Amino acid sequence: MPRKHLIAPSVLAADFTRLSTDFDMVNRSEADWFHLDVMDGRFVPNITFGMFVIEAMHKMAEKPLDVHLMIVEPEKYIESFRKAGAHVITVHHEACPHLHRTVLQIKETGALAGVALNPHTPVSVLADLIEDIDLVCLMSVNPGFGGQKFIYRTLEKTRQLKEMIVAANSNTLIEIDGGVGLQNAESLLQAGADVLVAGSSVFSSDDPVATIARLKAFHASFDF
Ligand code: DX5
Ligand code: ZN
Repeated sequence: MPRKHLIAPSVLAADFTRLSTDFDMVNRSEADWFHLDVMDGRFVPNITFGMFVIEAMHKMAEKPLDVHLMIVEPEKYIESFRKAGAHVITVHHEACPHLHRTVLQIKETGALAGVALNPHTPVSVLADLIEDIDLVCLMSVNPGFGGQKFIYRTLEKTRQLKEMIVAANSNTLIEIDGGVGLQNAESLLQAGADVLVAGSSVFSSDDPVATIARLKAFHASFDF
């Protein structure tokens, strides 16, 4: 039996005038995690929300919070995001000169440690660190905004990363973030993806609960 993949709806695409309604929808759906995008206007050209808002979201969420930090100097805030309720904390490779230290710092808080790679960053940069990372988030769009077009090259990067993880005999999860939906979910799972982040494809659909169920129902045709 292939291990079952996880679905993480990205709250960035939710309706912020009725956030509790959208959280309830995700709570009663087959989704596994809430994906929360933190942007600082420096690492990415957009600003979203920080730990205070996440603390409030944590009260509404009945599923783990997958916090994606698109910020410079994330090491300064890891403890606060953990206290706010983060279950997974993902930092960007491009924002961390001392990535190994930052990964260990995340794990010391008890959270799962994720590392995100921008579309231009090869997976090979993680070769000496892969066993220490709980999750690699492959950006399949340039980070900063929801609703962008999926970068096709991500499929090949997913395969390469899966090979690296299998060779290291590691349990690292592969998460794909950006432009994911019903049209590419199956190919991504087939390439080795474990977690699918889906923003606009879920929240802009007529029936988000059903869309999540459909994303969850796909599977790879073989075990890795
Ligand atoms: C992009 C964010 C994504 C985004 C995904 O910077 O990291 O999580 O919300 O949204 P969609 O699924 O609409 O591309
Ligand atoms: Zn994200």
